[in-house]
Amino acid sequence: MTILADTRPLDRLADFPAIPTGWAYLDTAATAQKPQVVIDAITRGYDTTYATVHRGVYQRSADMTLAYEAARKRVAGFIGATSPDEIVFVRGATEGINLVAQCWAGTQLKAGDRILLSTLEHHSNIVPWQFVAERVGVSIDVVPLTADHRIDLDAMATMITPDHKLVALAHVSNVLGSVLDAKRAAEIAHSVGAKILLDGCQAVPRMTVDVAALDCDFYVFSGHKLYGPTGIGILWGKAELLDAMPPYQGGGAMIDKVTFARTTYAPPPARFEAGTPHIVGALGLHAAIDYVESIGLDAIHAHETALVAKTREALSQINSVTLYGPENSAGIVSFSIQGVHPHDIGTILDEAKVAIRAGHHCAQPLMEALGVPATARASFGVYNGAADVDALVKGIERVTRIFG
Ligand SMILES: Cc1ncc(COP(=O)(O)O)c(C=O)c1O
Repeated sequence: MTILADTRPLDRLADFPAIPTGWAYLDTAATAQKPQVVIDAITRGYDTTYATVHRGVYQRSADMTLAYEAARKRVAGFIGATSPDEIVFVRGATEGINLVAQCWAGTQLKAGDRILLSTLEHHSNIVPWQFVAERVGVSIDVVPLTADHRIDLDAMATMITPDHKLVALAHVSNVLGSVLDAKRAAEIAHSVGAKILLDGCQAVPRMTVDVAALDCDFYVFSGHKLYGPTGIGILWGKAELLDAMPPYQGGGAMIDKVTFARTTYAPPPARFEAGTPHIVGALGLHAAIDYVESIGLDAIHAHETALVAKTREALSQINSVTLYGPENSAGIVSFSIQGVHPHDIGTILDEAKVAIRAGHHCAQPLMEALGVPATARASFGVYNGAADVDALVKGIERVTRIFG
């Protein structure tokens, strides 16, 4: 068995007060546990520094506005955005994709245009496009997967036509950990004049992301998968695209001037942030970014890749286990055990204090393509180590003994 994982330990468990000793938390792809620094930032935000943003004339509110906008600037630097004005605070990746679907695709596309997705997309990157397709009369095409379950970019290059106006793909699959060659995907999209949105939910917590280097048009992710709070996420869009988009929701903070006759809107990002925002969520996200950058995304990637390699190596020795996804997947391993429902795997592992996810992972079309109703999924974070993999493997051996 490879001991790669032991050569690059991060040893960050002590940063996470909510992970008790002996609990192998292997569900980070669903949501990451929170380090103390993030919990402290949230507590501070609601404590002696709390006030609203953008409206108050008093000092506390002005300070909170500065902190909120500092968080936006921090996000911009983190993902290589040209300007903080390209960073829209949303509830999460789901809202970010819906915003682009409604405000960009819903206004720019016309009947007969086409959208290109892939077989492995999360429902969040399927259903919002179906809304647009139904409303506007757009068709959706689906890029298949390679034999080792990556988005098949050769197939994409063959399928794409000038009718395709938008490509929307997962940067890292939440089920398989497959990493997209995003730069090549962007080149293929742009070769026919299509825009490309990358769903970075699973990429941002486990690898360095630079939207300028990738040359994508929109990028979304959720704070809670990046060790930050729930309810806060990011839509990044190229300035000229955001500028041309109408508002998403109406209300306070997104306006320039309101009269009953006519309302004009604020420029981005305020145009897309109607209402009182998730102020403290932004502060927590800022702390989360500081936290992962203090470790280094490259170190996190190496650590999780090593844990995946160790897991795949061990599970491949068990005859009844089927592994999905490519060998070099990022931080996520999906598998099934012959004759055992994934929910039973999850329940038995829970008895051994190993928390995994079992189900369709909000990717039913992918399950259909894999020919299974569900899979079991282990996903890693900075707090995991070789001992967690050992606990998982031991638990799976127990499952195979129980089910004969
Ligand atoms: C790849 C991917 N896209 C989108 C989402 C949706 O994220 P959220 O529910 O935080 O909006 C998830 C969450 O599991 C995901 O893994």
